[in-house]
Amino acid sequence: MSTAKKEYKRITTKTLVDMKYRGEKISMLTAYDYTMAKIVDNAGIDVILVGDSASNVMAGHETTLPITLDQMIYHASSVIRAINRSLVVVDLPFGTYQSDPMEALRSAIRIMKESGAHAVKMEGGKEIQKSIKRILNAGIPVMGHLGLTPQSIYKFGTYTVRAKEEAEAEKLKKDALMLEKTGCFAIVLEKVPAKLAAEVAKSVTIPIIGIGAGSGVDGQVLVTHDMLGMTHEFNPRFLRRYLDLFAEMTQAFTQYIDDVKTGDFPNEKEQY
Ligand code: KIV
Repeated sequence: MSTAKKEYKRITTKTLVDMKYRGEKISMLTAYDYTMAKIVDNAGIDVILVGDSASNVMAGHETTLPITLDQMIYHASSVIRAINRSLVVVDLPFGTYQSDPMEALRSAIRIMKESGAHAVKMEGGKEIQKSIKRILNAGIPVMGHLGLTPQSIYKFGTYTVRAKEEAEAEKLKKDALMLEKTGCFAIVLEKVPAKLAAEVAKSVTIPIIGIGAGSGVDGQVLVTHDMLGMTHEFNPRFLRRYLDLFAEMTQAFTQYIDDVKTGDFPNEKEQY
C-alpha cells in the first residue's frame, strides 16, 4: 500500500489534529467535480478542498469574488458523491460571511445541509472572529485561511508574498493563535515567508496547511488543475507540476481531430 492510503478508513478533523501530533504530513488538493474528486480520493488524499478557486479554474473569472453560494454548493455536492475517505472542506464564498455572524451561519448551514460537506473554510482573522464562533457553535467545523487571502485581492492589489513586514507578520501570528483558541481545526497559510510559516506551525496545536509557505508546516495544498499542468499560464515559484496535461491533452485532441478528418476513426472494430 502506498504511503497515501495509510491506515485511516475515513479522515475526520480529529484525524488531522492527531496527524500533526504524530508529525505525519497532511496532503490536500482541490476538486470541484465528481470525476476529479473520485480520482483524488482514490489516490489517498487526506483533504479535498472545494475551493472558491473554482471561480478561476472552472468558470474563467479573473478573481474568486464572483462565485456564488449556489455554485459552491453545486460543486461541493458533486465532490461529496465521489468520495469514500477524504475530508471535504468547502470555501464560504466572498460576500456570504463578512457582513454579520447570522448571515455567516446561514451560509455555512446551507453548504453543510445541501451538499453534505464536512467543514467550511473562511478567509481572515480577527475581523471575522464572531462569524467563526457562531458557525462553530452550530457544530460546523471551520478551517481558517491567513496570509494571501484571494477574496481580499482588491485590498492587497497584488498576489505577491504576504507578511514580509514585521507588522503584518505580527498580526498573522496573533490571528493564528486566535483561530486556534476560537476552535478552528486547521489553518491554510498562503504565500508567506517559510520562516514565518514554520514559526506559526510551532506556535499552535492545530495543523497549518501551507501553499507557498515552505516545508516547515504540517501539510501542503495545491490547486489540482495547476499541479496537473492544465493551467499552464499560471507559474508561481511554489508550484510543482507533476504532469503537463495541457500539452498531453492538446496532443490527444489534435490526434482525434486528425483521425476524424481522415476517416481513420472509427475503424471496423469500433462500430456495430
Ligand atoms: O480556493 C482555493 O483553491 C484555496 C487554496 C488555494 C488554498 O483556497
